[in-house]
Amino acid sequence: MPTDAQKDSLEREIQAADHPRELAVDVMAALQDRDGYLSDAAVMETARLLGMDPVEVEELATFYTFIYREPVGRYVIHVCDSVVCWMEGSETIGGHLMGTLGIGMGETTPDGLFTLLPVCCIGYCDRAPAILVNRKAYGPLTIADLDALIDRLRNAADAPGGENPGEEE
Ligand code: FES
Repeated sequence: MPTDAQKDSLEREIQAADHPRELAVDVMAALQDRDGYLSDAAVMETARLLGMDPVEVEELATFYTFIYREPVGRYVIHVCDSVVCWMEGSETIGGHLMGTLGIGMGETTPDGLFTLLPVCCIGYCDRAPAILVNRKAYGPLTIADLDALIDRLRNAADAPGGENPGEEE
């Protein structure tokens, strides 16, 4: 998090909620924003804040695609592997990313820049094959587009205040 103001706001929301556990995803996401991923300690913190059993929090954390239980890179690339993207060549896209970055799905580059993860349909079938980079959608993608995007992100990471996709288009 969160700034102190965001933390206060979250705690106020929890206190005002009839069913605090309904805020579980918001709390996990806020702690993930703070730490970069949802650590074991953050699972415990979520459980404490919401009066839940840590196992319940763990179940939710592992269900949600965008909650990371392990550290991830600066750029998290979700490659859609659902049917429309598959028909439009997502295997080629995923394979090219793995080759270019030198990692497999579920892995992070040694420099901590990129994490590759598969994802179910992200709702951009009209732009297949599509990926998300820090939840911002890109597509339809060619190999050349991908190479340009990876280069741009690498260069931006080196620049002060470099690009940090975070909003869906
Ligand atoms: S199948 Fe890939 S975005 Fe829908």
